[in-house]
Amino acid sequence: PKRVRTRHFQNAKRDGIKITGLTSYDQLTARIFDEAGVDFLLVGDSAGNNVLGYETTLPVTVDELIPLTRAVAGAVERSFVIADMPFGSYENGPDEALHTAIRFMKEAGAHAVKLEGGERSQKQIRRIVGAGIPVMAHIGYTPQSEHGLGGHIIQGRGEGVKQLLADARAVQDAGAFAVVLEMVPADAARQVTELLHIPTISVGGGPHCDGQLLVWTDWAGLTTGRIPRFVKQYANLASVLGDAAREWRADVASGAYPTDEHSY
Ligand code: KIV
Ligand code: NA
Repeated sequence: PKRVRTRHFQNAKRDGIKITGLTSYDQLTARIFDEAGVDFLLVGDSAGNNVLGYETTLPVTVDELIPLTRAVAGAVERSFVIADMPFGSYENGPDEALHTAIRFMKEAGAHAVKLEGGERSQKQIRRIVGAGIPVMAHIGYTPQSEHGLGGHIIQGRGEGVKQLLADARAVQDAGAFAVVLEMVPADAARQVTELLHIPTISVGGGPHCDGQLLVWTDWAGLTTGRIPRFVKQYANLASVLGDAAREWRADVASGAYPTDEHSY
């Protein structure tokens, strides 16, 4: 299969073909999603909650995400692999941001990076793009600034749409190839999508965006806690695995496993 490039994102928007992305943090899921034709895989800092057992994404480090990114990048043949820049790895300025982005490209084999923030991250995006590294921007609700935003709150509501549009323009001007809109009203996302020539990728941004992205563990029903309303579950892996574990325990207890068939 032909590798997805940033060109694919531009062409998809032009031709009205929806873009699909899932998070992935390991080579097994990366291979499965790649073969299923998912256009891009995001090695999200949501690995903090989903792999590393943190309560938020704030403690996640570049050193923790690099091996996960390397596993995903090494497994794909077609999907575009995007490394998420964690909190504290780019806010200090363009130099720090470029340093982090280069680490993900060199040490992990990422194809692009993602970072949070619109106007406030414009200089960082411009510097990274200037070094030949594609950047996916991320505006609307930005989990790394949960405390600054005052909680897990929908952005771009009412008057807030002005800031959302300003952020969207800022990241496009800085050279981002696409922008994630997280948890914004569908109508605000539609306005951004019509304003921009780069594709918008919805995470809880409704149906008018140019693409859709979900956290794979939520989408596949592996997450056991509360999941956001915008997630549709396409499988129930938690119950599949729980049932398998219970059946296996019972078989070991009864002697139904292993049999001659599984022995040497
Ligand atoms: O880390 C992540 O999974 C993300 C997406 C939900 C946008 O940033
Ligand atoms: Na993230």
